[in-house]
Amino acid sequence: MNGMVNGTTNRMRRLREHPVLAEMVREVSLEPRQMILPLFTVPGTGVRTPVSSLHGVDHISPDRLHEAVDAALEAGIRSFLLFGLPSRKDARGTSAWAEDQPVQQGLRRLKERYGREIHLTTDVCMCEYTDHGHCGLLKEDGAVDNDPTVLELGRIALSHARAGADMVAPSAMMDGQVAALRRALDNGGFSSLPVMSYSSKFSSAFYGPFRDAAGSAPSFGDRRSYQMASTNWKEALRESLLDEEEGADILMVKPSLLYLDILSRLRESTLLPLACYLVSGEYMMLRHAAAAGSLDGPRGLLEAHLALRRAGADILITYAAVEVARMVTGR
Ligand code: PBG
Ligand code: ZN
Repeated sequence: MNGMVNGTTNRMRRLREHPVLAEMVREVSLEPRQMILPLFTVPGTGVRTPVSSLHGVDHISPDRLHEAVDAALEAGIRSFLLFGLPSRKDARGTSAWAEDQPVQQGLRRLKERYGREIHLTTDVCMCEYTDHGHCGLLKEDGAVDNDPTVLELGRIALSHARAGADMVAPSAMMDGQVAALRRALDNGGFSSLPVMSYSSKFSSAFYGPFRDAAGSAPSFGDRRSYQMASTNWKEALRESLLDEEEGADILMVKPSLLYLDILSRLRESTLLPLACYLVSGEYMMLRHAAAAGSLDGPRGLLEAHLALRRAGADILITYAAVEVARMVTGR
């Protein structure tokens, strides 16, 4: 063997010399088709107001959602994840499946306008819709009641499907929620509608900006009785593999940048497509660092997104979808 300094056998830099060859041996890439842009829809008409906690994200009434969709389409982004802020909340989160609420209204409008040109996924959870801010129905002692909740989640998913959703994404971390959604959808005539499960979702400090944006912070306690402990990687694999057994079509790791190990381990444990969610706090951490001059914003964003692809994610849910799409396509 030649020594590192004088040898000529192994020179790693040979592959880095010519830009065309360097591109040829690049192992991962990122394309607009792999990204999903979250949208937040609110009651009313004519509304489009910036969300102060979440850079570049607006609260948009159903009648103006197409403006955000058009801008995204121009950058090549054709897939969206819809969240809603309801006009009313109650203990049972009944507005989550009501026809007159922003998600259902927005779905109808967008489907009418774009048909199959775009793909619409809805977040299926109750925390935006309950007055207590938890992701399910409560028992008298304040604990979240799992089994009645999953039936409710099925009802919500079905209302989204009827309004035109192309895919539903349960995020409540209730046991059996994927099976419950599958049953509700199949019985409702939507056996072809895929379920993307938030399958390994951790209890995280990095959801803060989202909870401001969605008005979904719990009014008491926290989500640790249903979301996962950040310390548990084996449990995270079990969670995702159980969802696969229950019929999930796509699995998800959330958050993502702090959980690359989970992504890469899950990549080797399943053949399903894998999504990850670069969550609000991770996204704003990058934005704040760039604004403070600590890093080059665009380069930092791109590196973070490529890291998710390298770790094994097929699909990236990201608030920076449009900006990153522009970067990778030069549009
Ligand atoms: C709803 C939901 C949350 C997020 C996505 N769906 C918040 C939570 O679980 O508290 C977080 C997204 C983000 O932080 O960007 N359950
Ligand atoms: Zn929730």
